[in-house]
Amino acid sequence: MGRSHALVVGHFPKGRCTRLPFLFSFPFDSSGRSGIFSAPDLIMGKLTVNNLDVRGKRAFVRVDFNVPMEEQKGQMAITDVTRIKETLPTLDLLMNRGAKLVIAAHLGRPKGQREPTMSLRPVAAKLADLLCRPVAFVDDCIGEKAEQTAGALKPGDVLLLENLRFYKEEEDNDAVFAEKLARLADVYVNDAFGAAHRAHASTEGLPKLMAARGSQCAAGLLMERELKFLGEELENPARPFVVILGGAKVSDKIKVIDRLLEKANAVLIGGAMAYTFKLAQGLTAGKSLVEPDKVDMAKAALAKAQKRGVQFLIPSDDIIATPVDTGKLNKKGQPIIEMQKPRTNSQPNIPDDGCGLDIGPETARKYSEVIRTAKTILWNGPMGMFEDARFAAGTNAVAKAVVEATQKSAAKSIIGGGDSVKALNNAGLGDKVSFTSTGGGASLEFLEGAVLPGVAALTEI
Ligand code: 3PG
Ligand code: MG
Repeated sequence: MGRSHALVVGHFPKGRCTRLPFLFSFPFDSSGRSGIFSAPDLIMGKLTVNNLDVRGKRAFVRVDFNVPMEEQKGQMAITDVTRIKETLPTLDLLMNRGAKLVIAAHLGRPKGQREPTMSLRPVAAKLADLLCRPVAFVDDCIGEKAEQTAGALKPGDVLLLENLRFYKEEEDNDAVFAEKLARLADVYVNDAFGAAHRAHASTEGLPKLMAARGSQCAAGLLMERELKFLGEELENPARPFVVILGGAKVSDKIKVIDRLLEKANAVLIGGAMAYTFKLAQGLTAGKSLVEPDKVDMAKAALAKAQKRGVQFLIPSDDIIATPVDTGKLNKKGQPIIEMQKPRTNSQPNIPDDGCGLDIGPETARKYSEVIRTAKTILWNGPMGMFEDARFAAGTNAVAKAVVEATQKSAAKSIIGGGDSVKALNNAGLGDKVSFTSTGGGASLEFLEGAVLPGVAALTEI
């Protein structure tokens, strides 16, 4: 296998590149500092890529390329490239400083199996397009082929490894597996904020092992930005600080609600979670999705809000529908329930045959009013089943109000990952807020105050 192996198996940019070639996007700088980024080098006392010496070294770059995909004409196609795009500043910086990039990621949950629909090969092609550079791809993340290709890289070359989770050892944080990954690189960079809440081999075992051997382990620029917005910016928020929380389950959000009640001026609740809060207030929820065993938690949150003087709003009206069993089964063998007769229920109690699926117009108006007064906004979770246009009005109204507050009153708006980002993008408003997180579970755990193993493992400065 010769030196050219990497590029022979690689992907080349398709079409005309409109992006400046990387050599011109950042000046070469022999000091190892670019001087381009004025962002503080210090995030929570961790080394960042700004201060990492990488010239001529192989850098293991853990990214979160867990992008949504769907089958199109028998091939897997990426339906949203945000997570790939957001890593480009880090990749540019590393290429510009003459690093050899060995990029690793997971895709889906293949549970240690080689699952062809979860191959990262389509991502290598997309990355080549976005970087306007060839990207080599190896259909394994450890072993001889990966080691040879990584060893043949020249400064500025880019290699993407196959899905880390094709090995069960990745999620098991297996030391022998981490050791095999360590053979591929000299320094370590973690730009996978979305996976930083996982203590897996590539996010925790590997950096710890490399650090123990004297290698430096740094946060990438995306990781730095995420921690800055979700951490520093919310530490002492400009007031009023309005928190909007949606999503299906109280149990998913209760820790973050509890923590945010210490800081927020107002908390606005939407999504199916709102119906458990209705039960906690002695209201009826009809056929809505509820967690009866979480009613006490919801009551405790309401009591804490009252004690701290936090305005805590749950919907005063809803869009409801009547669930009807079609008698058919879906691919997973579950009954297909159709939501029929969508209508506005203009009172807080939900009738017996009704299932709440979105906040109502009155609630949307009230929530929007509160949001427009905010100076800091944190939004996590849609207000309803927004994937269905009949139940998207509430989420869209909230998205519009968040954008208005950002544009008209210079509020800082931070959108915490997952579905709320999708809802914002659906409404064409994704770039009109201050910050959208690439992390779903990770942003939630971080906001809960948890230590993220992927951050903890990085080199202290
Ligand atoms: C995500 O999409 O939430 C991250 O990539 C982490 O994936 P996981 O939830 O399968 O660990
Ligand atoms: Mg997840």
